[in-house]
Amino acid sequence: MNAADASVSDRLRPFGTTIFAEMTRLAMANNAINLSQGFPDFDGPDFVKEAAIEAIRAGHAQYARTQGVPLLNQAIAKRWAEDLGIDLDPDEQVTVTSGCTEAIAASMLGLVNPGDEVVLFEPYYDSYRACVAMAGGVARCVPLRPEGSTFAFDMDELRRAVTPRTKVVLLNTPHNPTGKVFSERELLAIAGVCIERNLIVISDEVYEHLVYESDQPHVRIATLPGMFERTLTLSSLGKTFSLTGWKVGWAVGPSGLSRALRSAHQFLTFATATPLQHAAAVAITRSDDYVADLVSRFRQKRDMLLDALIALGLKVFPPAGTYFIMADFSDVYDGDDISFCRRLTEDLGVAAIPPSVFYQQKELGQRFVRFAFCKKDETLLEAIKRLQGLQAWKVRR
Ligand SMILES: Cc1ncc(COP(=O)(O)O)c(C=O)c1O
Repeated sequence: MNAADASVSDRLRPFGTTIFAEMTRLAMANNAINLSQGFPDFDGPDFVKEAAIEAIRAGHAQYARTQGVPLLNQAIAKRWAEDLGIDLDPDEQVTVTSGCTEAIAASMLGLVNPGDEVVLFEPYYDSYRACVAMAGGVARCVPLRPEGSTFAFDMDELRRAVTPRTKVVLLNTPHNPTGKVFSERELLAIAGVCIERNLIVISDEVYEHLVYESDQPHVRIATLPGMFERTLTLSSLGKTFSLTGWKVGWAVGPSGLSRALRSAHQFLTFATATPLQHAAAVAITRSDDYVADLVSRFRQKRDMLLDALIALGLKVFPPAGTYFIMADFSDVYDGDDISFCRRLTEDLGVAAIPPSVFYQQKELGQRFVRFAFCKKDETLLEAIKRLQGLQAWKVRR
């Protein structure tokens, strides 16, 4: 091993460079349309940008309180009271973090002891396993397998994944990369196991507002009976407001779990950018029309890309939430997902994500590709035009 490799800690060496950085680099090198990383190529709303500019002009320039600017904590608590009828203490039960990414890291570092086990559903967002490892924990994965046009887990596999060492179940709904929105029935079943085995739930809900089917609404596991007291719900501004670079996130949960998260948060970032927190408070308070319009635009984009992928012979799993489409390319290409995505970028000029990087059991993801559709219509149309090159790839069996 050379010195540079050896200098990375044992904890993090297995994780290498995140796939998002790698695919974005490959996309740029090939002048490809980037449908890999989940960020929009259009701007966030003016009313939120104006609020940030005003906050900067007003001199909100120094460190914020570690748990968040009071206005933002109050805005988040108010939404929970209005939408869910749950009264939160904004100072004790809401913590503002630097994106959901920091909330994931802080919750793992604040809750997980070396040797504790954390149950993840695979495929998982790539920072989960790295954060479990940073905390010295051990990840136990429960696969989401294709079932009809969506993905599902097996309750027996979930039960088997829980051992006497399990402390946390890390859930993500709506789910990246599958686009699955966990149903209330599924969440009740997960909740049952968590209550029976006295587990904590970390629920990553960054796509909470990006849901497209009225019969598959987003349900917060924290709202199910007996669950608020054992759940930290994480979210952020980035996905809902097309402001992924602002990195304003938050964690909501009972005081004890919030204290555990804060014990790490205070030493990770201490606080999040003050003027952006002021703007986030405005965003959350005045979001309804903006979000409804964004969701209807995303639904159209989803359908446009789905239709094109189906016409090209890919088997798609229409997402009920998020801004990603998982597709099975087996009828179009014979290799694995990494070589498929590399060829797609280099030969056709479209970058996508190879989902096997989101699995502990890599073979479960090797026939899939993930496309992000949070792009301008003209970007998607150009990508669809380039993807027509796939017709020449058809596998002859
Ligand atoms: C499931 C999931 N959680 C967390 C994040 C990161 O959120 P943030 O940008 O707020 O750190 C992402 C971003 O892609 C995500 O897909």
